[in-house]
Amino acid sequence: MTTGPLSTPPSEARNHPINPWWVDAVIYQVYPRSFADADGDGMGDLAGVTAQLPYLEELGVDAIWLSPFYVSPQRDGGYDVADYRDVDPLFGRLEDAERLLDAAHAAGLRVIVDLVPNHTSSAHPWFVEALSADPNTEAGRAVRDRYMFRPGTGAEAPNNWQSTFGGPAWTRTTNPDGTPGDWYLHLFDSSQPDLNWDNAEVRGEFEDILRFWLDRGVDGFRVDVAHGLVKAEGLPDHHARPGMVTDAEPLAAAGDADAGEDVAGHREANPQDHAHPVPYHDQEGVHEIYRSWNAVLAEYDHDPVLVAEAWVSPLERLFRYVRPGEMHQAFNFTFLLAGWDAVRMSDAITVSVQEAEKVGAPNTWVLSNHDTVRHASRFGLADPTRYPNGLGAEDEQPDDALGWKRGRAAAMIELGLPGSAYIYQGDELGLPEHTTLDDSLRQDPTFVRTEGAEKGRDGCRVPMPWRADAPGFGFAVGHHVDTGPSPVNPNTPATPGHDAGAAPVAPAAPWLPQPESYGTYAADRQVDVAGSTFELYRQLLGVRGELDLGTGAFAWSRFHSPELGVLAFTVATGGGQGGYDLDSGDHIPEKVALVMANMGQTAVEVPEEYAAAIFSHDEAMQDGQLMPDSAAWFLRR
Ligand code: NOJ
Repeated sequence: MTTGPLSTPPSEARNHPINPWWVDAVIYQVYPRSFADADGDGMGDLAGVTAQLPYLEELGVDAIWLSPFYVSPQRDGGYDVADYRDVDPLFGRLEDAERLLDAAHAAGLRVIVDLVPNHTSSAHPWFVEALSADPNTEAGRAVRDRYMFRPGTGAEAPNNWQSTFGGPAWTRTTNPDGTPGDWYLHLFDSSQPDLNWDNAEVRGEFEDILRFWLDRGVDGFRVDVAHGLVKAEGLPDHHARPGMVTDAEPLAAAGDADAGEDVAGHREANPQDHAHPVPYHDQEGVHEIYRSWNAVLAEYDHDPVLVAEAWVSPLERLFRYVRPGEMHQAFNFTFLLAGWDAVRMSDAITVSVQEAEKVGAPNTWVLSNHDTVRHASRFGLADPTRYPNGLGAEDEQPDDALGWKRGRAAAMIELGLPGSAYIYQGDELGLPEHTTLDDSLRQDPTFVRTEGAEKGRDGCRVPMPWRADAPGFGFAVGHHVDTGPSPVNPNTPATPGHDAGAAPVAPAAPWLPQPESYGTYAADRQVDVAGSTFELYRQLLGVRGELDLGTGAFAWSRFHSPELGVLAFTVATGGGQGGYDLDSGDHIPEKVALVMANMGQTAVEVPEEYAAAIFSHDEAMQDGQLMPDSAAWFLRR
């Protein structure tokens, strides 16, 4: 892969009437179980999110994406939905969702919700009905046709597909008369039966669900497993187990095409095998579904967005999801998988910018989410391109100080790039993964289904630390009765539903324990504290907005030298063709930001003159040179 000069033409300025809001939005992912607990039961909730909105306003993001809060048995953290139109009592009620939407909108924040169309929960009324239906009647066949039921071959499953979480992707049913029955497909846990997207009722239902939430004012949908809804005709065998996120391709890791043969060990290698495309990923039929959803969203005039979670490769395939008339954004997992490696990251950016340009869509950068080991920990591993599925006490422990430095520098790359950027909750505090969680506490089905071989995702889902000195690090945000108004959120009201006159009840411990170290990362130790990670993010978001970097023109700079570990690009805004103020007609002068990251081993030269600069940490610049594991934004005028 070459990394020659590359540039894109300047795009229109931020908030230009023709640019929908999401083109350059910075979107903050809230994992509701772990963000903030308003009722003190140890589990995050929607009222907690509402209470902490001022924190997000201070941070300066444009929108939030809420992972699922719907009615669910929580076998997969809410990605097992039993009722798509209501809130799980764990998180509140439908009115709490409406209140959150209103409060977010009043604060100028948009709200994206999660949509899980590949599968329902096995507790969904459709699946319950399907299991009790008689497959020998027409009515029974009709209700079963919403899912993927198939006869086995003798005592064997219909094919050899593996669940992404480990183990077989099929579970056998029992007929009403007690005899062994058909099998149903579940690409994930057995409690997550796959829907049949050839069924018209399924299609109608999801268009209806979109309208249900759009009518309540949501600003878009993050679409779970967007590449998985349609399966190849005849359900042919496939030799590999799909890797969550890793089925997007780390560009510089060519890998052995047949490495997928080893189903258990493929996660550390590139699992892609283009000679044997995955028969349940990235099938052509999915695009028609998204065209129909695009039409539904187009009925609304507030520019709602569809965001694809699609682990597809090569990047050219990913960008097919954001062709005109389909989805609007697609998470760039190739960028995420590049790790702390200048060549891989450079290649990922080069190809992404080119492919985005071809389809006229913005890039959608992401470093971490609720399925990945937090990047502050991944980048502290001996091999900072490694992508383990969870870490446990007996695994290699990351170098936290190194990961912290690199994590901050990586944020400067991500937030400097034109396009939209996603921040996973806690990354703005520099949170590391919980790497020593007791196995007995793990809830991720992957841990169980791989019999502990993979630790899974609990370590990145640990509740947020809001206050260093409070029990549970202040996760119970409504329970700080004795210490006066929160420095994080001075507007936090008394706990909703909490009787102000009653004696305060001690909140329950957070549903997953936080590591000791989280005290030093707590929000009240960082908000308004110079040099903190929170303040770095706040500053980056402020400058990004002021300079319109999100809609700027990207070009690799003369300093770019990935083989030496240096990543350097410029983003130009204003000036150029579109550089006129729409109201006054005045020419807007061009502004240029140079983003540099030193991912190598030795200090590197930087430009001698610049109007201002931001550094990833206090010691990033020494003797006029950018130190290893650091980044800087140099602003020129
Ligand atoms: C992707 C989600 O991000 C993940 O958390 C979930 O387990 C799977 N899809 C299945 O819904």
